[in-house]
Amino acid sequence: MSKYWSPLVEKLTPYVPGEQPKMANLVKLNTNENPFGPSPRVVEAITLELNDNLRLYPDPESEALKATIAQYYSVQSEQVFLGNGSDEVLAHIFYGLFQHGEPVLYPDVTYSFYPVYCGLYNIEGKTVPLTDSFEINPEDYKQPNGGIIFPNPNAPTGRYLALDKVEAIVAANPDRVVVVDEAYVDFGGESAIKLVGQYPNLLVCQTLSKARSLAGLRVGFAIGSPEVIEALNRVKNSFNSYPLDRLAQAGAIAAFQDEDWFRATCEGVIGERDWVTSKLEALGFEVLPSKANFIFARHPDHAGEALAKGLREQGVIVRHFNKPRISDFLRITIGTADQNKRLIECLKTRV
Ligand SMILES: Cc1ncc(COP(=O)(O)O)c(C=O)c1O
Repeated sequence: MSKYWSPLVEKLTPYVPGEQPKMANLVKLNTNENPFGPSPRVVEAITLELNDNLRLYPDPESEALKATIAQYYSVQSEQVFLGNGSDEVLAHIFYGLFQHGEPVLYPDVTYSFYPVYCGLYNIEGKTVPLTDSFEINPEDYKQPNGGIIFPNPNAPTGRYLALDKVEAIVAANPDRVVVVDEAYVDFGGESAIKLVGQYPNLLVCQTLSKARSLAGLRVGFAIGSPEVIEALNRVKNSFNSYPLDRLAQAGAIAAFQDEDWFRATCEGVIGERDWVTSKLEALGFEVLPSKANFIFARHPDHAGEALAKGLREQGVIVRHFNKPRISDFLRITIGTADQNKRLIECLKTRV
């Protein structure tokens, strides 16, 4: 607290991102980055963009990238919104699309940035408990609300909600915006983007940080009806007109142009996820079914915190959340085959 702070800042509880450690030779399985790296065509496109044009502002509307994404998902450009990572897109959603006088619903176990945005914008957040098996029950979202948001697959559980159940939530709330945060959908889920034409209240949010391996480039997007997207444009142009720099726009376009790389790396992650799951189960872990690039697992005889601490001493970093319902779990990002082997070898010495 300082006399220079505004009273609003004093009340904030900021999000704490997963650690980005500086030590060498770590097996870093704590922030759901993609182990395979971006397409070489992305690197090439960014390199080409490193020229004198950097003195000029980028296209504030990122029209070329919008058109690329619109074509990829068979929607119109005015149905696409872009932001500096999907975190920024989410921030604008909370500000511009939720009814601030009523509670915004999200699962009790979910992405921990949602309550932070509620705090930032003074919105009431209401948690809706997942079932005992950590699933979303669409029936629970039939209650008065100022908007609904959930990740699919959910984070940090990795559990996926079938599209007909997503649709049930959207259809039951025609007067409110329902946001499906699909940060991890490309690792085996089916996107709700195909429902956007039918439901003007549905907004699907995605990122290039995970399946397209560009967490460092900071590009996220949302797809919805033009009226919903227009609200986001109004917020963006009242906040930062240039959220995506020239390098990000060029790199992101190239990422959507290399479908082979995208498919191959997603399949690589899925194959490794199956391998890690079977090895963990053989060691006695309970592993929740995951359609993400991470898994959520607990051991009946070992506390999550102790396991995470022990792994860290062995140079393997995973994420542990000291929160109700999930404090026994570890969230483990799927790494390369070598990283995953090292994880399992280390765990063998501990369970
Ligand atoms: C569910 C979910 N949504 C959104 C994000 C934000 O991703 P980014 O800001 O890198 O696009 C994350 C990041 O881990 C996430 O787990």
